[in-house]
Amino acid sequence: MSTSSTSADAGKRAAAAAALRFVEDDSIVGVGTGSTVRYFIEGLASRRGRIEGAVSSSEQSSALLRAAGIAVLDLNACGPIPLYVDGADECDPWKRLIKGGGAALTREKIVAEAARRFVCIIDPGKRVDVLGRFPLPVEVIPMARSLVARKLVQLGGQPVWRDGVVTDNGNWILDVHNLRITDPPGLESEINQLPGVVSVGLFARRP
Ligand code: 5RP
Repeated sequence: MSTSSTSADAGKRAAAAAALRFVEDDSIVGVGTGSTVRYFIEGLASRRGRIEGAVSSSEQSSALLRAAGIAVLDLNACGPIPLYVDGADECDPWKRLIKGGGAALTREKIVAEAARRFVCIIDPGKRVDVLGRFPLPVEVIPMARSLVARKLVQLGGQPVWRDGVVTDNGNWILDVHNLRITDPPGLESEINQLPGVVSVGLFARRP
């Protein structure tokens, strides 16, 4: 492992450990997806008897939660949840995020929206001044892949199909390269409105 990946890993562990203090006894915790969240789930295992359960953002996290002895709850049966903990691929100074490197962006957005508080756990290497160095993931209905890709080119990006990846919702991912995202909320709205788009990995509209 290189020095930078070792320090990124240490940053992920530290961020995940810090998020544990936001978990309240007898509460339901929203859980994101990814390698940083994996450390959070490891920590959450020590609280398993003290929390009601978790709402998961992916099949991957559901499996990890169950393996840790934590009940995975249906969001429809929960109503608003107090806390959502998740990682990100990029974060700007206004805490606007790019997410979806793990292809779980749609369920992540749903669980985040259902939560009163979103605690984002990132290592320092994820901080950027302007979003867009990390290719922006967009989940699309398969039949709309080319249509949406052409629209994304008109918006100035270079979409690349994440070939071979099928999301937990049965859809596909376009990763949009070469964007310099100076208006994240505006671009989030614009891409969300394209027919065929299920969701975009910009998390910029949360107040
Ligand atoms: C998954 C995500 C992840 O939160 C994001 O990709 C960060 O992952 P990692 O913690 O492995 O760096 O959005 O869809």
